[in-house]
Amino acid sequence: MRPARLMKVFVTCRIPPEGRALLAQAADCEVEQWDSDEPIPSKELERRMAGAHGLLCILSNRIDKKLLDAAGANLKVISTLSVGVDHLSLDEIKKRGIRVGYTPDVLTDATAELAVSLLLTTCRRLPEAMEEVKTGGWTSWKPMWMCGYGLSQSTVGIVGLGRIGRAIARRLKPFGVQRFLYTGRQPKPQEAAEFQAEFVPALQLAAESDFIVVACSLTPSTRGLCNKDFFQKMKNTAVFVNISRGDVVNQEDLYQALVSGQIAAAGLDVTTPEPLPTDHPLLALKNCVILPHIGSATIRTRNTMSVVAANNLLAGLRGEPMPSEFVM
Ligand code: NDP
Ligand code: DGY
Repeated sequence: MRPARLMKVFVTCRIPPEGRALLAQAADCEVEQWDSDEPIPSKELERRMAGAHGLLCILSNRIDKKLLDAAGANLKVISTLSVGVDHLSLDEIKKRGIRVGYTPDVLTDATAELAVSLLLTTCRRLPEAMEEVKTGGWTSWKPMWMCGYGLSQSTVGIVGLGRIGRAIARRLKPFGVQRFLYTGRQPKPQEAAEFQAEFVPALQLAAESDFIVVACSLTPSTRGLCNKDFFQKMKNTAVFVNISRGDVVNQEDLYQALVSGQIAAAGLDVTTPEPLPTDHPLLALKNCVILPHIGSATIRTRNTMSVVAANNLLAGLRGEPMPSEFVM
């Protein structure tokens, strides 16, 4: 029997089948979904959220004061299909006593795999080399042609030795990395022990690393962290990779560092804005590899994320402990 008062839930996009099925089976919820692969316009989201008890959203939805006001006092839980929560106005959400669910851990392996792929793709110049094969640039085997940089005996600097940062270091270690550095809010000797990683200030990490991988969360203290000062400290043979959020990097400063030869190359899975306009200057650079934010994009991972997000939402609505609650 259906309960007399159904809780209204809004889902801002199509989600993978396992999560969708869980929501469809919830007898105490009336679930509405933006049934398109294109993002919901913010005005439409505000309209659809009026009176909702729960929201399942993705990282491209801005959940700000305006939207929360439009939703009204019924809203009890926001479940995001992401581990990053930088698209949520946490202060406003906390003020209203709304609970937040997110999807840590289940995407760590997929994202670390992608980070390592992007690093190798960038440092060994794979897109450039493939282009040469297609366009006739491959004329013969030449000793100094298409040379890049290898991981063996290198120093790798991880910005943010969290779940994903550690999973990246774990995968890079067998490539023969000699030394790991990391930076963050404070040293984490227990986590760092696995890699004998040394805690250093961000600028020291920039100066001493051959490869830098940014894997921190986007917060007021990490916004713009990789800027002109940071790139100027880097070796001109060093490779920079960002899988965190575009706003951790000052993109204009990164562009200048790549064009001037201040650094060797960059691999970005995240940019500002997303999508990056197709005429963006970074896309014209041979030493910059850009992917469309696909860190967690394996079928299994996205399905699992949808299950966690759906269960977070349902548990939050029912006043139960969530599988993964973001504690503010
Ligand atoms: P964690 O919370 O485990 O790790 C975040 C790390 O950021 C922590 O180690 C934290 O260090 C660090 N950090 C915080 N402030 C700073 C600072 N000022 N300087 C340097 N580091 C800092 O999160 P996850 O590892 O699970 O995820 C990290 C981020 O990766 C997400 O927030 C998301 O933005 C991004 N991501 C991107 C994906 C993609 O598709 N490209 C997929 C999944 C995640 P400390 O402990 O010292 O505070
Ligand atoms: C996240 O979860 O924060 C990623 O950016 C997408 O999986």
